[in-house]
Amino acid sequence: MMGGGEIHCSADARRLARRKLPWMIFDYIDGAAGEEHGADLNRAALRDIRLRPRCLVDVSRRDLSAEVFGERQGAPFGVAPMGMCNLSTPGADLMLARLAAKWRVPHCLSTVSSTPMETVIEAAEGHAWFQLYFSGDGAGSMKLARRAQEAGYATLILTVDVPEVGRRPRELRHAFRMPFRIGLKQFVDFALHPEWSLRTLRAGAPTLANFDGVDYAFDRTESRAAADWGWFTNLRDAWPGRLVVKGVLDAEDALRLKNAGADAIQVSSHGSRQLDAAPPPILALRRIRAAVGEGFPLFYDSGLRGGEDVVKAYAAGADFVFFGRVLQFAMAARREAGLNALWGVLLEETSLTLAQVGACSVDALGPDNLA
Ligand SMILES: Cc1cc2nc3c(=O)[nH]c(=O)nc-3n(C[C@H](O)[C@H](O)[C@H](O)COP(=O)(O)O)c2cc1C
Repeated sequence: MMGGGEIHCSADARRLARRKLPWMIFDYIDGAAGEEHGADLNRAALRDIRLRPRCLVDVSRRDLSAEVFGERQGAPFGVAPMGMCNLSTPGADLMLARLAAKWRVPHCLSTVSSTPMETVIEAAEGHAWFQLYFSGDGAGSMKLARRAQEAGYATLILTVDVPEVGRRPRELRHAFRMPFRIGLKQFVDFALHPEWSLRTLRAGAPTLANFDGVDYAFDRTESRAAADWGWFTNLRDAWPGRLVVKGVLDAEDALRLKNAGADAIQVSSHGSRQLDAAPPPILALRRIRAAVGEGFPLFYDSGLRGGEDVVKAYAAGADFVFFGRVLQFAMAARREAGLNALWGVLLEETSLTLAQVGACSVDALGPDNLA
């Protein structure tokens, strides 16, 4: 099919990934909470935002860099933390790390990555942040934070929107769990997707790589419900580096976090994987920006599918944004070449959108660019 294998937009990456991945893995990555109404609503909210096209502005010299914590990043977006990325294709964690090194952007490594955090920060040439989950009584999480500090991580992202793991029916229908339990249904699924299955078999099924030697047996579905403001204060006191709090949708919480010592807040609905009834995070971003004021670092992820979305998020108050699923789809579709191809597309889309709205950089974007 002519042109059918190329990635011209993130939807192409998703379409190609859907063909290659076992249904169980595709639905694990693509799925969202409940009826997935929240995911649809956020996409609709993003689509409904209209940008103001401007004319006769000299936009011939456009700069796609962005500033995060006083440092220039080589691109206006980074990599959101995603657990068990190597399920999209073996070696995915390291592909993302190399991408981060090349573009000098943060690769947020998940607590439940399938590559050890030490290996990733080395491959990312320091451009890695460590994402932390609270679980159990929080003692194991503290141990993991210490391991991250020893490994050289300067930025920790505490994810606070998973008091319990959300119910994602698409994931549940396939009986997705780690390690896999392979019944007849899964066997057929894997057999019908031989390229993925053979590659994964050869590389070995992904495991959770950050718990060896820290005396902490992490359970993906263990309750994380005991995290509270007191524990947050303990973590703040114990962690000497920058602390980003991810998964905030409420302006009151955002303000309290700012006052409690968070260095930045990441407005996110976890890609709509947690609370189906959550407000569209792109709308929460504007409310939270208004609450915390100008100058406080606000990051954004959830539902971003292209460069126009990037520009919309900056215009709505973000200081930096992160892509999630679409990067996994690009790797599932075409491995590292697919990832680099999609990244190039996202950069080009962002650059062209800047030109259309009469801006030469993401730093120049603000509410004025919204129609
Ligand atoms: C397969 C998958 C696994 C994820 N794992 C984590 C995780 O381990 N930690 C975390 O903070 N967020 C995790 N997230 C949420 C992402 O960091 C991010 O919030 C979300 O993917 C953004 O939405 P988008 O995929 O629509 O861009 C995960 C998301 C996906 C799709």
